Amino acid sequence: GAPVTVDIGNLEPGEMISIEWRGKPIFIVHRTPEMLETLRSDELRGRLSDPDSGNADQQPEYARNDVRSREEEILVVEGFCTHLGCAPQFRPEVAPQTFDDNWLGGFFCACHGSRFDMAGRVFRGVPAPSNLAVPPHFREGNLLTVGE
Ligand code: FES
Repeated sequence: GAPVTVDIGNLEPGEMISIEWRGKPIFIVHRTPEMLETLRSDELRGRLSDPDSGNADQQPEYARNDVRSREEEILVVEGFCTHLGCAPQFRPEVAPQTFDDNWLGGFFCACHGSRFDMAGRVFRGVPAPSNLAVPPHFREGNLLTVGE
């Protein structure tokens, strides 16, 4: 599929937009400093299957870092659950006792209960086998392009 470009100039911290690329939803999130701090916390990392993105197929090299992004504020992931392909819900709220654990914000797949953090990293003990994929992307000013 051809690259898709979207203006993210109005995407406020804490918000997500979804666009389509190659027939899949692509989620773009403007993460807050609090979200980034949570992603780097030991409390969260200890609950993840692949906190350091060891599976090289799941993101481009430039997104193989502790927050899985090219620029830390802007997350770009496929909204395509790595279990059976449902679109996970964006659930940014921090909510104790939600989804059977201390929910720190992220994505929840209602199809079979898989959970991902605000970097698309999968939690242990859910059906999804791997992190949400980060598609190739780049940004020029307010314009974000997905694809190459
Ligand atoms: Fe997401 Fe099964 S498709 S948990």
